[in-house]
Amino acid sequence: MTSLLIIGATGAVGSRTLAAALADERVDRVFALGRRPLPEHPKLDARVVDFDTLDTVPPVDAVVCALGTTRRDAETREAYRRIDHDIVVRVAELAREAGATTCALVSSLGANPASRTFYLRLKGEVEESVRRVGFESVTVVRPSGLVGGERTRKNGLGDRLVEASAVIGPLVPARYRPVHVDRVAAVLLDAVLSPEAGIRVRESETL
Ligand SMILES: NC(=O)c1ccc[n+]([C@@H]2O[C@H](COP(=O)([O-])OP(=O)(O)OC[C@H]3O[C@@H](n4cnc5c(N)ncnc54)[C@H](OP(=O)(O)O)[C@@H]3O)[C@@H](O)[C@H]2O)c1
Repeated sequence: MTSLLIIGATGAVGSRTLAAALADERVDRVFALGRRPLPEHPKLDARVVDFDTLDTVPPVDAVVCALGTTRRDAETREAYRRIDHDIVVRVAELAREAGATTCALVSSLGANPASRTFYLRLKGEVEESVRRVGFESVTVVRPSGLVGGERTRKNGLGDRLVEASAVIGPLVPARYRPVHVDRVAAVLLDAVLSPEAGIRVRESETL
């Protein structure tokens, strides 16, 4: 039996990951940390927290990071970085300190710490920082634009990809095709329930 910590569980990917985890008999306990409450469930311990002052997390086997914002919501690059990088890395560090050996992280198609694009650079940096935390198993999932789920905010690039693929369909290379949030959720859950030692990167076309 496995215990999980999820951040971003109120979002499109995170909520589907949470639902899949709660329905999976291999998972006995799920902790969700966020700024909004979640519906009650016998296996769920959801806590509203202030990530700026968070200094401990419950002991778990694995952590799933599906938390992130957009430039529009964050308003400044500094705020964007604080959310998509600093909160995620801090929670990963606290989970590792609390005993977690496995981490699965939602990143993005094109993530690269050397990218000239702020968003892709930020995603590349958070990947690198999480890899350095010291988990036995790290899975980085890099979806293209996301479809499905109840997304709480818009993603400019993702939305344009989805619109384009609806028009030109199969002409879109596999790498750029939109990915359903349920598929991302399934890959995240599999990564933490059947962890493989080392670092795995799941590119969008493999999802
Ligand atoms: N959407 C896309 O097309 C796309 C494509 C590739 C990669 N991604 C990445 O995939 C991840 C998940 O995306 P998504 O579409 O599922 O996102 P989403 O629906 O917008 O959910 C984002 C989650 O992060 C939380 N969050 C955002 N800002 C926060 C803050 N300041 N403090 C605490 N929690 C905060 C949200 O909590 P609240 O519910 O409280 O706001 C929510 O749980 C993100 O890292 C995103 O960058 C997205």
